[in-house]
Amino acid sequence: MSLETLTWKDGNLVLIDQTKLPNVEVDRVCETVEDVWQAIKILAVRGAPAIGVAAGYGVAIGALRAEPGKVVEDSLKAADYLATSRPTAVNLFWALDIMRTLINSHDGDEASLTAAIVEKAIWIHDDDRARCHAIGENGLPFVKDGATILTHCNAGGLATAEWGTALAVIYAAHDAGKKVAAFVDETRPLLQGARLSAYELNAHGVPVTLMCDNMAGIAMKRGMIDMVIVGADRIARNGDAANKIGTYPLALIAKHHGVPFYVAAPTSTFDMSLDNGDQIPIEERDPEEVFVIGERRMAPENIKAFNPAFDVTPANLIAAIITDKGVINSPSEEKVRALIEA
Ligand code: MRU
Repeated sequence: MSLETLTWKDGNLVLIDQTKLPNVEVDRVCETVEDVWQAIKILAVRGAPAIGVAAGYGVAIGALRAEPGKVVEDSLKAADYLATSRPTAVNLFWALDIMRTLINSHDGDEASLTAAIVEKAIWIHDDDRARCHAIGENGLPFVKDGATILTHCNAGGLATAEWGTALAVIYAAHDAGKKVAAFVDETRPLLQGARLSAYELNAHGVPVTLMCDNMAGIAMKRGMIDMVIVGADRIARNGDAANKIGTYPLALIAKHHGVPFYVAAPTSTFDMSLDNGDQIPIEERDPEEVFVIGERRMAPENIKAFNPAFDVTPANLIAAIITDKGVINSPSEEKVRALIEA
């Protein structure tokens, strides 16, 4: 299955509203830059690569809606504004930098600049599609026939232009005829595993077993998991990788039980300006997300909640990072540089 996570239609960005899945499949139409910002903020569109694609289209909307004489100013303003939506996924800033470079270097008239901005946003979308398919192919050799694969959060078609990163590897193995099965962590507080990964893996025909986030230990101890594969929101140049909260403890459990732990991400997720994962900004979200499940409050009033949206898995717990350009086994700064700067 290939879900159309984002569609560019008549100068608007149309998204599957991921806050409503899996119970309701409904589109959310973004007509203004503010609409795109909101959609990113509330996770109607989410997942590092998809956020980057949405931001590119957000700048295009800024250019298309600009008053005559203000295309440069308004599209740059849109880029700065969209950069404030979420802090961790570097693909957002990667896409916005591509748009800013184009805007600042363009020397044609406003109509040709607007056309070029729209074209570049579509290019970012197509580029991500191609990267995801390459990740699937590059990850295929790591999956043994009959493997049971644990994943966390959603790094699938819904988190990217299509196909995904971690889930692309599972889809590639499944489509190649390997009998794979997925274990999916529910991924509190917002349940991206239960709501999104289970939904799309199941729709693709991959057998899915859902478990709560605190069940990975027993599953690995009992030998039920052959490999773990997750996505990433930002990877520092030493290979430390930020991903959805709860990824780091999974990597620790996997190390203890000798289960290989893989990260799958496009090269647009690497932030070569950072020495290590301690420098990755971690988004803190509204405590309300921890107090409730769905609409229902699960905790007493008058208490606090800790709600970091991501954690960082150190490179030494990662067996390999699978990218669109190739694989980095036992990641280190030297190996990351060799792949990214090649
Ligand atoms: O808060 P989210 O849902 O945007 O977090 C998403 C993740 O952590 C994904 O695993 C990551 O962005 C990789 S998506 C290919």
